[in-house]
Amino acid sequence: MSPSTEHDAIQPHGGVLIDRVADPERAAELKKRAGTLPRLDLHVRELADLEMIASGAFSPLDGFMCKANYQRVVAEGRLENGLPWTIPVTLSASKEQASRLKAGGEVALWAKPEQGGKLHAVLEVQEVYDRDQAREAQAVYGTTETKHPGVAQLHELGELYVGGKIWLVEKRTPPFPAHHNDPRATRAYFRDKGWKRIAAFQTRNPIHRAHEYLTKVALEIADGILIHPLVGYTKEDDIPAETRMKCYEALLAGYYPKDRVLLSTLPAAMRYAGPKEAIFHAIMRKNYGCTHFIVGRDHAGVGSYYGSYDAQKEFDKYQPEEMGITPLRFENSFYCNKCGAMASQKTCPHTDADRVSLSGTKVRELLRAGQEPPPEFSRPEVARILIDAMKG
Ligand code: ADX
Repeated sequence: MSPSTEHDAIQPHGGVLIDRVADPERAAELKKRAGTLPRLDLHVRELADLEMIASGAFSPLDGFMCKANYQRVVAEGRLENGLPWTIPVTLSASKEQASRLKAGGEVALWAKPEQGGKLHAVLEVQEVYDRDQAREAQAVYGTTETKHPGVAQLHELGELYVGGKIWLVEKRTPPFPAHHNDPRATRAYFRDKGWKRIAAFQTRNPIHRAHEYLTKVALEIADGILIHPLVGYTKEDDIPAETRMKCYEALLAGYYPKDRVLLSTLPAAMRYAGPKEAIFHAIMRKNYGCTHFIVGRDHAGVGSYYGSYDAQKEFDKYQPEEMGITPLRFENSFYCNKCGAMASQKTCPHTDADRVSLSGTKVRELLRAGQEPPPEFSRPEVARILIDAMKG
């Protein structure tokens, strides 16, 4: 897929698709200078954010947030200029590291050895500032408990934040190159296909029948669907992206029309911030060129921190025009034996006893024992991949 310069029907968030990938000349110059600059080794979340900023997926951000953006995002779910934005995109430093940085200077951004240990970007330091960790945790995650994976991550970061524009000088090798498309590429793809209404599906799990149902109902009213699994950081007990990608490929090959679906990866890091992350997920997909965004039950949730439909309600806090992408809200979905079909609480008059619903724990138990969950819950092709993966 090649980037295209044609006008896009779907405006990116803030109106301009950001591009902070340095051209070869600038990259060479920055790389040369980087050896003399102070350096920060990025947390896995920061490394993912860096790539998202550079590709335009986080438009209108052109760097890590300065204090005014950070504070308004935490307090009001908006950027300094008023645009909806719910998740701080920050770069952290320890006090000791920060003592080597000054406004107007530059800092080289490196991956840690376990993430490849390369120089990836240079940041023009605009500001170094204090964060209010407890306030950030409460506002973004709705809790300060460190057993929440997003809050736990906040504790792994340095105690100061560094704001400023970035230039990416070296892209990372994407984990699934055949399915890697930055926002310019997905936009070009949709345009070439002639799709006007495009629904996006965020997922961090294998696609079971309920997920399949949501995407197909969405496809009934859309021209195409972007199946957009998040493949950046996910927590330890989530199914690894390698296994999930095999499941998506098998499901698409067997059950979706080829010419109406794009399977493409989202290299972002998961926050598990439920409602706040749902807004963030939608804004990213707007930047990738989508018009609609699926929000189901407990979107981006973890444990029992959020109500089942809190993520859907979060969209009511913003005007449709300022979001610029339409949420498609879905009730809890399941297979109903009496309906003989996939359904939801909205469309099925029967009782729980007639519905096939399995907890995540139960499904894992079955798979670990080498048993396929019922086909009404998971397609056999998907179940077999998961069973194989569990055998390790
Ligand atoms: S998430 O963290 O990416 O939200 P997951 O991959 O499980 O997790 O969910 C992807 C999307 O499907 C989310 O919008 C979620 O709300 C929705 N979803 C998952 N399971 C169901 C279900 N049984 N009924 C309705 N929506 C669901």
